[in-house]
Amino acid sequence: MNLSAMELSSEQLQAVLISAKSICVLTGAGVSQESGVPTFRGPGGLWRQYRPEDLAAPEAFERNPLLVWEWYAWRRELIQRAQPNAAHLGLVKIEETVTGRDGQFTLLTQNVDGLHERAGSRNVIRLHGSIWQLRCASCAEEREDYSVPLAPFPPRCSCASLMRPGVVWFGEPLPEDSWQKAADAAAACQVFLVIGTSALVYPAASLPLLGKRNGARVVEINPDSTSVSEIADIAVQSKAAEAFSALARFDRQKERA
Ligand code: OAD
Repeated sequence: MNLSAMELSSEQLQAVLISAKSICVLTGAGVSQESGVPTFRGPGGLWRQYRPEDLAAPEAFERNPLLVWEWYAWRRELIQRAQPNAAHLGLVKIEETVTGRDGQFTLLTQNVDGLHERAGSRNVIRLHGSIWQLRCASCAEEREDYSVPLAPFPPRCSCASLMRPGVVWFGEPLPEDSWQKAADAAAACQVFLVIGTSALVYPAASLPLLGKRNGARVVEINPDSTSVSEIADIAVQSKAAEAFSALARFDRQKERA
């Protein structure tokens, strides 16, 4: 049988996934790119002239909260209109298959968009928080708010202070409980699937290496090379939704054969 590069990747990928008892997945902005949510780096990554580091930081919020909120309001609007794509849905299917045979499946995501949860993923650990969560910049008040547009804008707490997005900013620690669970899942898994992250932002970027050092097979899906490509056992150089659509086609072909 003559296999194209994509079919070959799908065959390898399926073989690896079928045999694994425990799978850990790390996703980044690239997994939502085909849903219409722009990534942070690379083409289309800049908002106005700003880099994410200029906006996703406590100092940026102190300096100009309105500018930071305008950026998040723009992303909230895009995300609200977006639908989960074949990659989000494919991960749900893998979770169902693995847990259906009493295996372990953990989805670690750097994304704050909530698309994995909307697709139906269950064991999701959000490393960088949620764009739908608002937190008071002064008191402990927190609330979920899915309204687009937000009113009043920028949003205020009942204590009259400004609310901030409930996401982790540069220079801030990750929630301790989420980080511990993520590190444990990374260290214990047999297969570590890394999808759509530039692997430039730490500590999340250290997780695939932690998996590799503990014996996991590392599989990457990303159209570009990253530091993960160097340690990956399989690097599928493709967009995430395209790779999962090819995997689904491959499954159907095999069923028919
Ligand atoms: P980046 O924007 O840094 O990287 C996106 C990655 O996705 C790149 O490696 C692209 O090659 C890849 N990519 C693009 N389109 C893709 C597609 N259709 N399918 C698969 N891969 C694709 O995003 P992250 O790595 O998620 O943090 O960035 C990490 C963190 O930096 C974010 O969580 C955010 C940001 O600043 C905070 O806000 C704290």
